[in-house]
Amino acid sequence: MGRLRVGVLASGRGSNLQAIIDSSLAGRIDVEVAVVVSDVADAQALERARSAGIPAVHVPPGRFRTKLTPEAEQRYTEVLEEHRVDVVALAGFMRILHDDFLERYSGRVVNVHPALLPSFPGLHGQKQALDYGVKWSGATVHFVDAGVDTGPIILQAAVPVMDDDSEETLAARILEQEHRIYAEALQLIAEGRLKVDGRVVRTSEGAAGATGGDDA
Ligand code: GAR
Repeated sequence: MGRLRVGVLASGRGSNLQAIIDSSLAGRIDVEVAVVVSDVADAQALERARSAGIPAVHVPPGRFRTKLTPEAEQRYTEVLEEHRVDVVALAGFMRILHDDFLERYSGRVVNVHPALLPSFPGLHGQKQALDYGVKWSGATVHFVDAGVDTGPIILQAAVPVMDDDSEETLAARILEQEHRIYAEALQLIAEGRLKVDGRVVRTSEGAAGATGGDDA
């Protein structure tokens, strides 16, 4: 099998996108970013894609604030299909996707979230964690289902919350982990090692030697 063709949807800064591009270009993951699509015309994510020679497409979301119109969503699908995308990775994509889209890409849409789900879904996961007073938060990569941040969890990483954290310092600590586990999760998909059993994602053993086991 060739490399996994990933289409990234992003609305903003695109640091997760960049982490995936960097891992891909360095050959650390068997993933190729086939196209980047954004609902925001001047998203930094589109710039990052162009700089890496990756097709970057702005698709206007239509008149809604938090979702895409059916026509816009259809256009997203067309762009992803034009680029023969196997998996759709949401990376700071701030729009909710409808059932039609999710059915077409069933089990093939993933997202990164800046909290340990199911705690603090939705917007501002880092601020929610600070306001609640948890001592640990973190990052989650999960498959996307019809709910908001409710799909089966692929990987999580925890970080401590410090007494003097601001939203920015906590976000930065979490972001480092997002970058690491997003690339790792995509690699698990590329290797065909994930099996979804209801809510539970199970990971099979990798090929001998591939993960640097202790049997050398
Ligand atoms: C990331 O922290 C991501 O987890 C979050 O937006 C940021 C995007 O950063 N996503 C959500 O909150 C989705 N609910 P990036 O554009 O630099 O990757």
